[in-house]
Amino acid sequence: MHEVGYHRVVHNTFLIFLSVIIIQCSYADPLNVTVPQSRLTAARGHSVILGCEFSPVFGKNPDISSLVLTWQRKEDNRVVHSFYYEQNQLNTQNFAYQNRTSLFRNQLNKGNASVKIDNVGVQDAGHYLCIVSTNQGTDRAELQLDYGAFYTEPRLTISVDSSDISVQYETEGFPAPEVMWKGGHGENLSEQTTTSMQSDEGMGLYHIKSSYTAPNKPLNFTFILKNQLLHQHLQRPVIISGKQLTK
Ligand SMILES: *[C@@H]1O[C@H](CO)[C@@H](O)[C@H](O)[C@H]1NC(C)=O
Ligand SMILES: *[C@@H]1O[C@H](CO)[C@@H](O)[C@H](O)[C@H]1NC(C)=O
Ligand SMILES: *[C@@H]1O[C@H](CO)[C@@H](O)[C@H](O)[C@H]1NC(C)=O
Ligand SMILES: *[C@@H]1O[C@H](CO)[C@@H](O)[C@H](O)[C@H]1NC(C)=O
Ligand SMILES: *[C@@H]1O[C@H](CO)[C@@H](O)[C@H](O)[C@H]1NC(C)=O
Repeated sequence: MHEVGYHRVVHNTFLIFLSVIIIQCSYADPLNVTVPQSRLTAARGHSVILGCEFSPVFGKNPDISSLVLTWQRKEDNRVVHSFYYEQNQLNTQNFAYQNRTSLFRNQLNKGNASVKIDNVGVQDAGHYLCIVSTNQGTDRAELQLDYGAFYTEPRLTISVDSSDISVQYETEGFPAPEVMWKGGHGENLSEQTTTSMQSDEGMGLYHIKSSYTAPNKPLNFTFILKNQLLHQHLQRPVIISGKQLTK
């Protein structure tokens, strides 16, 4: 009887001791996952780093054996990249991200859970979750990725007949741009121009055709295209000199 009671006391003391440790772990230093940028932009065909950090990091002897890191799409839970048992776990990765993602392996033990996505396409636009579990707990952070495509070098076509000169530029990019034509003195030529924008939703590109038609005589004007999302600003001056171009 005496011995049983003694063991129970030891046992209870141990439980209290254990509870104190657990409570201290979970209240003193809960895992905190943050993203340095909650919204960022990626350009078609380029790479982008989705930043994510967690703290506290592991103790003095970094041991990432307890780390479970999952990057996933918020919309449909598709797995973008996953890491546990100290390895990339790519068997659960969604096909759309195959061969395009990587972590910064030597930064994981510093609390850097960022993922790099290569060859960005329109389907990569959306919301991402960075979910981290360690022996300090579980937490998640969210970010939004916007997609853009730099407009290609505009292709110039000039058609001339006896009365008119028509100048057309064609280019592809995303999202829809701001298009302007300006005369030699900065005047707005919108009245004499037509612009068509065809969107190819699946490809994530707008096909732009913009033309300016003027009487057949020497001309001096500029085609301007702005992609606000990617801060792209194209300006292509055109000078047509000489006398009448036909006959
Ligand atoms: C997590 O870390 C961020 C940045 O260091 C801080 O602003 C935030 O208050 C922390 N959140 C918690 C729950 O500790
Ligand atoms: C990824 O790479 C592997 C090996 O090179 C290849 O077999 C597979 O088709 C690739 N997947 C995609 C989606 O490109
Ligand atoms: C995480 O690693 C990436 C790649 O080296 C780097 O660009 C990013 O700045 C790092 N983040 C932090 C918080 O160190
Ligand atoms: C075109 O117009 C600009 C602005 O007025 C002027 O600086 C430039 O010299 C002109 N070029 C020609 C060939 O007329
Ligand atoms: C040019 O004029 C058109 C209408 O004629 C107008 O919609 C457009 O905003 C003007 N652009 C600039 C840069 O003033």
